[in-house]
Amino acid sequence: MAQVSLKKLVKRYGALEVVHGIDLEVKDREFVALVGPSGCGKSTTLRMIAGLEPISGGSLEIGNTVVNDLPPRDRNISMVFQSYALYPHMTVRENMGFSLKIGKRPQAEIDRRVNEASAILGLEALMERRPAHLSGGQRQRVAMGRAIVRQPEVFLFDEPLSNLDAKLRTQMRTEIKKLHAKVPTTVIYVTHDQIEAMTLADRIVIMRDGHIEQVGTPDEVFKRPATRFVAGFIGSPPMNIEEATVKAGTLVFASGDSLPVPEQFRARVKDGDRVAFGLRPDDIFPTGHGLSAGDASAVYEIALPVSITEPLGNETLVFIEFAGREWVSRMLNPRGLKAGEQLAMSFDLSQAHLFSVQTGKSLTI
Ligand SMILES: Nc1ncnc2c1ncn2[C@@H]1O[C@H](COP(=O)(O)OP(=O)(O)OP(=O)(O)O)[C@@H](O)[C@H]1O
Ligand SMILES: [Mg+2]
Repeated sequence: MAQVSLKKLVKRYGALEVVHGIDLEVKDREFVALVGPSGCGKSTTLRMIAGLEPISGGSLEIGNTVVNDLPPRDRNISMVFQSYALYPHMTVRENMGFSLKIGKRPQAEIDRRVNEASAILGLEALMERRPAHLSGGQRQRVAMGRAIVRQPEVFLFDEPLSNLDAKLRTQMRTEIKKLHAKVPTTVIYVTHDQIEAMTLADRIVIMRDGHIEQVGTPDEVFKRPATRFVAGFIGSPPMNIEEATVKAGTLVFASGDSLPVPEQFRARVKDGDRVAFGLRPDDIFPTGHGLSAGDASAVYEIALPVSITEPLGNETLVFIEFAGREWVSRMLNPRGLKAGEQLAMSFDLSQAHLFSVQTGKSLTI
């Protein structure tokens, strides 16, 4: 069993605290992604788990053992870095077997484990090549192979795909997912790419400034973001968010435009409250061109001018002007639109989010 528990984990560099006492329970064989903007503490947290950074406070358990003071090699983990860090003078086979050789495993066992890993990753034909003669995706696979042969209880990944071009990144993402299905192991995966996190992880941890903002399944963090920050971070294109003041059952924006307070929030707000109103692009659509709205009575219709469009083939992103800003909407079964055209728009308010301007917290939860 290799669950990983972070208990009030703190990291300080001198007087500067960069991870502020985070709590996280990763279950055995769970795939957890850490996401968040640059500098929020993802790599630092992962490196503390790996044993590459001393822990300044709190405790870290792998299995049921406190490992704060154990060196990396005794933690039963394997880490895959963005840079792959392959040995250039060694063949793929030697790279993959190196840690076992250092660990003085018998040659027959090394061969067996390396062959198993190469079969899982489809590397058989490349085993005698050196890294310089491999593509980026192949190097990435070797780096994973090197991690697999060690049969760790926990895999740690730090942005393993960010050196690859977009197409290869998507392919490798699928391979990592298949790999986790074949070799079910606890995985902690750092990325700043929220789509990677959404597609790979059982649960996502959204970090910000050394804190955890929310932990949840991809569905939870998408549908029920706990904070305004999470709402803006998860989802592409991002959620439309605009501040408003509650007044007599309406949300009044700074421009003077208004929307009705969505039904589900009526009892949670009062006149004078400052809220941030959020609606995803999927939930604003040219009338007749959206996913079917469950409850038609929650749909607010308003004619608005189109500013620009981004046709994507099967759908078009339509930017419309409202409340002094551009709102992104999604048009299914698109037809041609002209800039400046007035368009009947549907706002599905049953899907709306409200956040307190003061605390950033969702008023839903
Ligand atoms: N050796 C160090 N000394 C001082 N501060 C550091 C050191 N390493 C990292 N930091 C700081 O710690 C914070 C967290 O850094 P970290 O590398 O964990 O961010 P990250 O979330 O991985 O970001 P990125 O997405 O850019 O990789 C940053 O503010 C960074 O400047
Ligand atoms: Mg990092």
